[in-house]
Parts: sequence; structure tokens; C-alpha cells
Amino acid sequence: MRSILFVCLGNICRSPTAEAVFRQRSIDAGLDLHIDSAGTGGWHKGEPPDERAMEAGIRRGYSFAGQESRKIVNNDFTVFDLVVVMDDANMRDLKSVCTPNVHHKIKLFLGYAPQAGTREVPDPYYGGPGGFDHVLDLVEAASDGLIKALAK
Ligand code: 4NP
Repeated sequence: MRSILFVCLGNICRSPTAEAVFRQRSIDAGLDLHIDSAGTGGWHKGEPPDERAMEAGIRRGYSFAGQESRKIVNNDFTVFDLVVVMDDANMRDLKSVCTPNVHHKIKLFLGYAPQAGTREVPDPYYGGPGGFDHVLDLVEAASDGLIKALAK
């Protein structure tokens, strides 16, 4: 497994957070991976991550340097070995635009953190600031689980 793409709806809150956290933790674990993120929607194309997501992440020591929102493209399903989604809607949206032979590459992020007791990373965009710390808690747990799965 050499390349991982994290996907959410807008690519400004959850998947940029996943990209930042997973990049740091995979470096700490000594893994050399190509990591990126994208959205199923393109409304925020070219924008940096949401200020609230960056504030919460930077407080925990993560870097969002160089991140810019983009919409998923068909070639992503060829380039990336694994496409990790935040919720069931992301999963449905992606499966509706890619060919069935790559469906196996798409995984729910929280599948790597069964102890979290929930299957979706909730969208924090319209909620209060606490939502971003909750996203970070879930993303940190799932990142550790994914790193363990990759090390097997
Ligand atoms: P994300 O959050 O999918 O975690 O990046 C959202 C960001 C923007 C919108 C929805 C969700 N939006 O509707 O613009």
C-alpha cells in the first residue's frame, strides 16, 4: 500500500484533517506514503481548509501547509491504492462515479477504529467549534488503526 486518498464532501473540514493527522502519524511510524485528500463536491475548489478545522488541528500540532480543496477525479481511482471516506454518503457518491472494479479500494475511515462505536465521521461544517475536536478524536483513532492495518 503506497498511496491513500481521504475523501469527504467539501474537502475543507474532515478530509483535510484526516490528511494532516495521517501524514504526521505515518511519518512518526516510519511509513513512506503518498497522501492526499479530495471532496465529492467542488464548491470550495482552490480554497485552503476551513479556519476552524485548521485552528483545532494546529492546536494539536498538525500542519495543513499546502492543502487546497479539490474535487475527486476519475484518475484518482487509478492512482490511489486506497480511497478512505468519512461517511456513508461519501461512499455512495464515489461508488456512483467509479467503475465497479475499483469499489474494493473504497473504505470507511472508522472501519479502522471499531472501538469508536460509530461508523461515520460527522460533518462539523454547520455545527459548533466542539465538532472539530470530535472530528480530530475520531480521525486520530482511525489513523492509528489504519497504520496498524498497513503494518500487517
Ligand atoms: P467537509 O465539510 O465535507 O468535512 O469538508 C463540509 C464543507 C463544506 C460544505 C459541506 C460540508 N458545504 O456545503 O459547503
